[in-house]
Formats: sequence, C-alpha cells, structure tokens
Amino acid sequence: MTPHNEAAAGDYAEAILLPGDPLRAKWIADTFLEDARCVNKVRNCLGFTGRYKGRPVSVQATGMGQPSLAIYVHELLTLYGARKLIRVGTCGAIVEGVRVRDIVIAMTASTDSAMNVAVTAPWHFAPCADFALLRAAVAGAERAGLRWHAGGIVSADQFYNPAGLAAFEPLRAHGVLAVEMEASALYTLAARHGAQALAICAVSDSLVTHEELSAAERQSSLEDMARLALDVATGAGG
Ligand code: HPA
Repeated sequence: MTPHNEAAAGDYAEAILLPGDPLRAKWIADTFLEDARCVNKVRNCLGFTGRYKGRPVSVQATGMGQPSLAIYVHELLTLYGARKLIRVGTCGAIVEGVRVRDIVIAMTASTDSAMNVAVTAPWHFAPCADFALLRAAVAGAERAGLRWHAGGIVSADQFYNPAGLAAFEPLRAHGVLAVEMEASALYTLAARHGAQALAICAVSDSLVTHEELSAAERQSSLEDMARLALDVATGAGG
C-alpha cells in the first residue's frame, strides 16, 4: 500500500500491461482477462489482475507523461514484484513511412525530460527495450499480419509543443519514428531494477500528414495492440 496504490503485496502478477488511460485499463481487463478483479482505485488510476489464456497478468494505468508513469512503475517494481512491464499506448508518427493504424515497437526511447539525465549524469543513458520482449512482439505482429515498425521513438514532455513537427527535426534526422510521452522512463526504471520492459504503440495520428484515426479505427487498432501485448507479457503467443 502506498499513497498512490491501495493494492496489497501479491495483488499484481509479475507481467503487467501499462496503458496511460485508466478507462483503457478497465477495457482491457473487461475485454480480455478472465476473473479480473480491481486492485487499485486510488486517484481513479485503475489497476486489475486476472488471467489471459489461463496465465496471470495485470493491467495498471500510469496516467500521462513520464513523472506520472514513474510513480506507478517504481512502486510496481520495488513493492509489487513486477518483472515484465509492457506499455500499450498511442503515438504520433514523425516520419513519412509510419502511418496511422501502424504499430510501433520501440527499440529505444529518446527524451527531452530531465528524468534520466538527472540520475545518470554525466552520462546520457540510452534506454532500450528488453530484447526477448521485443523479439516476441515482432514475431507476434508478423503472425497477426499487423503493419509494424521496430525502431526508436521519443518520449516528449510536451504534447502541445508550439514548434510542432519542427521540434522533432534533430530526431527525424536520426531516424526516430514517432512521439509519445512515457516509454523512456519505463525503460530506464526497468533497467535500474533488473526487469524487462517494452513499449508497443498504435499510431493514432501523424504530425507529418495530419491524419488521425477515426473512433472505429482507434478501437480496432487498440484491440490488435492489446492482444499482441498480452501474448508477449504472458508468453501465450507461441
Ligand atoms: N504527441 C505526444 N504523444 C502522443 C501523440 C503526439 O502527437 N500522439 C499520440 N500520443
């Protein structure tokens, strides 16, 4: 029990999906888990534990941005026994070749946040995905026939950056595919605590073409992503 989480030790599975949105956590639990029970309601940042294809798994919302995610993830790692953490979220494409409805599997996550450098200075730590989870996610995306990309993303502090796409020019010049707001801190925390982490993001919009997913497309894209992440988290995907 912490100021942010009322769950007791043992209430979470070792494998945990991490959506930003609490209602998405509930939707994943209601739609995909067997015997799901709510283990956290503090601040409405909902967490659930159940089984997927018979295997234990949890879903915990993280809120938006790295500071919020870091609170939940630190506690999951240090107090609740989390060992495999998979972020499921949306991202905005910043290059032409990544289109709405694609899935981006993040090999690494750059950031403009001070969260990583504050801890690793003078070094700029390079946060990276767990290789086994990454490999399983790519294999699962191939099997499911999804349009997927594996590459670098950026976890930005600002959603409303006044410079728009221009803000990302230095990263576009280094092949970074998409922007979201949480993965970098997740990878750093998992590394610090010897755990496995991966971010799988559905492309919800493009900062290049200004396309956005319709509500129906967003739902089916989220379903594909949730299934893929649950297969990877539980090892049920084959
Ligand atoms: N910026 C940051 N995070 C996002 C975006 C974006 O454009 N789209 C989806 N998540």
